[in-house]
Amino acid sequence: MNTGDKNGVIGKPVNRVDGHLKVTGGARYAAEFPVAKMTYGVTIQSTIAKGKITQIDTKAAEQVPGVLAVITHLNAPKASGEKGGGRKLQLLQDNIVLYSGQHIGIVVADTFERAMHAASLVKVRYQEEKPTIHMKDNLDKAYVPGGKIPRNEPPDKSHGDVAQALTTAAVRVEETYTTPVENHNPMEPHATTAVWQGNQLLVYDATQGIFSAQQKIAGASGIEPGNIRLMSYYVGGGFGCKGSAWSHVPLAAMAARQVTRPVKLVLGRIQMYGPVGFRPETIQQVSLGATRDGKLTALRHSGTSQTSTFDEFIEPVGKSAGMLYACPNIETSHRLVQLDQGTPTYMRAPGEASGSFALESAIDELAYKLNIDPIELRLRNYAEVDPSNKLPWSSKSLRECYKVGAQRFGWQKRNPKPRSMRDGNYLIGWGMATATYPTNRSPASAITQIMADGTALVRSGSQDIGTGTYTVMTQVAAQALGLPVEKIRFELGDTNMPETPVSGGSQTAASVGTAVHLAGNEARSKLLQLALADQASPLYGANAEDVIAENGSLFLKNKSSKSETYAGILARHKMKMIEARADAKPGEEKQKYSMHSFGAQFAEVRVNPDSGEIRVTRWVGAFGVGRILNAKTADSQLIGGIVYGIGMALMEHTLTDPNRGRVVNPDLAEYHVPVNADVPPIEVLFVDENDPHINPLGVKGVGEIGITGVAAAIANAVYHATGKRIRDLPITLDKLL
Ligand code: MOS
Repeated sequence: MNTGDKNGVIGKPVNRVDGHLKVTGGARYAAEFPVAKMTYGVTIQSTIAKGKITQIDTKAAEQVPGVLAVITHLNAPKASGEKGGGRKLQLLQDNIVLYSGQHIGIVVADTFERAMHAASLVKVRYQEEKPTIHMKDNLDKAYVPGGKIPRNEPPDKSHGDVAQALTTAAVRVEETYTTPVENHNPMEPHATTAVWQGNQLLVYDATQGIFSAQQKIAGASGIEPGNIRLMSYYVGGGFGCKGSAWSHVPLAAMAARQVTRPVKLVLGRIQMYGPVGFRPETIQQVSLGATRDGKLTALRHSGTSQTSTFDEFIEPVGKSAGMLYACPNIETSHRLVQLDQGTPTYMRAPGEASGSFALESAIDELAYKLNIDPIELRLRNYAEVDPSNKLPWSSKSLRECYKVGAQRFGWQKRNPKPRSMRDGNYLIGWGMATATYPTNRSPASAITQIMADGTALVRSGSQDIGTGTYTVMTQVAAQALGLPVEKIRFELGDTNMPETPVSGGSQTAASVGTAVHLAGNEARSKLLQLALADQASPLYGANAEDVIAENGSLFLKNKSSKSETYAGILARHKMKMIEARADAKPGEEKQKYSMHSFGAQFAEVRVNPDSGEIRVTRWVGAFGVGRILNAKTADSQLIGGIVYGIGMALMEHTLTDPNRGRVVNPDLAEYHVPVNADVPPIEVLFVDENDPHINPLGVKGVGEIGITGVAAAIANAVYHATGKRIRDLPITLDKLL
């Protein structure tokens, strides 16, 4: 049995099913649940980066009318910041200060304003120690990480003999590239509402992972995970910082238990810089060796990034270098330096975004040294198999991406000579770079119910972090069930629903999509079996292969008179619904294939030669990302990635006071992200890609690849425009003068 072609709704640019709720305020975010007897938590943060709290005077705060509790290390209940997986947390268990902005207390009051006021009255004395703040001054302390880089790879990898190959290479590029600390800055800050009902804890949290947040609260507090229900129906952006439950989440639960009332804890924008992760600073060395005709003989990419003194996070900058180019000698390595700052975390293609700036800038530098077109140089080193493990690609359309992207952009009209293209006084630069991101997938489950009225309810834990999960899962379910999208209700965001992974690593479409697809197929199949075995059905005794499911009915192929509706089948059997569950997990495909998305980014910049001002004026990105679930939401995600890439290239930079370790630009006025005026028309092209190996839906995920390669394409365009190679992000105008 198949679903009819008219139901081929996968891929269609269906409008967001939650769009109306979002624009009318009906979509409830974590801080928007009207709970009776609500109280408001405000945290107190350390103002030093390292040392001990010697005195914490809460008397004045406690006397503010409406204050219900002031919790500090002096009176906090026992908790563990180590348990429950994820990041190591600070939960008011001692007087040690590990970074500026660490939560060192929480005030709870009956109004937000009273809590804010009371928090401001808490007096803290410290015994301050000199903190280690800047990585560049502490490179002698770099060490080999004990952990794995994200997605479970060792920190160092190599094959061949890079040192030897570099020595004998005809042409070499050996340069250092640096990227600064950057912060995620989702529109919605972190927010947690904790409500105790008897021994049950209900938590509304702004999170990318409801199940991992549930585990973290359980581990921290000793509450059984089964007694914690975590809900996250709408999330106003994540970009990685909501991929881990940070200290304020268990602290909100702790405070709610203390005051025996619900507590709402929303981090202010300023509080988003420090205790909830950031992209770490990186220093990257890239060494390329090549023959005169542009064959890579050696590729080394070494990265050093910062971590905290109490936890390890590795920005895996070398991951792309390990697999992007055919080269007999490749070496990638990652080192860490511990600083007295918060722990960094996943941010917008961690590793691929930051690493591709260095790698794809270096490839451009090599192209200039060899006098070979940068696309041609990449084609001469096109990896037909994954060089890191010699596995075939499950699919790879990078050649097509270069081709259609270049055509659309008009690349052949480029004069490669720097400063050769002008528009009046302005310098015009055209640059390109490769985009790449792995195809990830984790176990995920879903339940589908076909109801007596012919509609369907589909549930799967998961999250919609603004990416369109509600919409694309509705489409996947509609197609599997042979129902129009209007007849599907897809629900997510509740740990009472079937388990799913964190929405990180661009894996939700592949993981949850597969579960929804399989559960839908199973429910439809159950319904069919019911009809085929029932003498009262017009389909009685037919072959399953001859039946089509479409628009809520089962039809006999070519005999449309013989049909019946789903509602009719259920009514005759006096059934309220038919239910099916799928527990989907990846198979052996990752052992057999190397699975990645690829793309090509093309940038035009316009540089004012007098002021150094850089504007991005045109963009084309071409991508091979497997099957597209929704042409509109996929386009939006890739545009969003490219926009944040423009931010990374030209603006974003978290600045830290070297003496106090305090972020000095902790708001959207001083931390610049691209606004509409900074963003040119962005054209996203999809290369048709049918990948039968990665997962049953053939989707690769579009969450992160959009930002990869963007900073390099801009740096390369700036070089083309000006003749100046900027190897330090962001590329601000002062660096051009
Ligand atoms: Mo993404 S940075 O894996 O949340």
